[in-house]
Amino acid sequence: MNKKEFDEIMDMVIAAEVESFEFYRDVAAKSADEHVKKIFLQFAQDEQDHVAITKNIKAMDLETFSFCEGAGYKIAQMCIVGDYKISETVQMPKLSADLNPVEAIALALKKEEAAMNAYSSLAEVAEDTEKKHVFAELAKMEEAHKVKIEDLYTNAAFGEVW
Ligand SMILES: [Fe+2]
Ligand SMILES: [Fe+2]
Repeated sequence: MNKKEFDEIMDMVIAAEVESFEFYRDVAAKSADEHVKKIFLQFAQDEQDHVAITKNIKAMDLETFSFCEGAGYKIAQMCIVGDYKISETVQMPKLSADLNPVEAIALALKKEEAAMNAYSSLAEVAEDTEKKHVFAELAKMEEAHKVKIEDLYTNAAFGEVW
């Protein structure tokens, strides 16, 4: 994994965070429910923070960073795992605010799960301790989003929110 390849991965990660921000911002703008609007605006803010964080990660010194090389790793296996998870994020459908609220929540849930899995995978394959930690923290942040959205989804299913 050279710097160019890493930069390409981080560009995809940043683009995914920007897309998440835009999605939550648009859903918040469309929502007539003040409670839901507030929650999605907070998610939009969180994703905006993630954009800044991931841009910082891209700008970090990457001389020692590698997904696939180095002692202690089964090289081929780790590369396949890393590539597979990354392509999953690329194939993730672009979300639109042109959805009914329950559909929006369901898609948001899948998006957060995919983001969590992608970051967990990056944390797994990153050999640099600092970046492993950064990706693990990003995975935790997206996991927290997933749990919040699971609560929203449950409430929506029982008609308490919508
Ligand atoms: Fe995010
Ligand atoms: Fe998120």
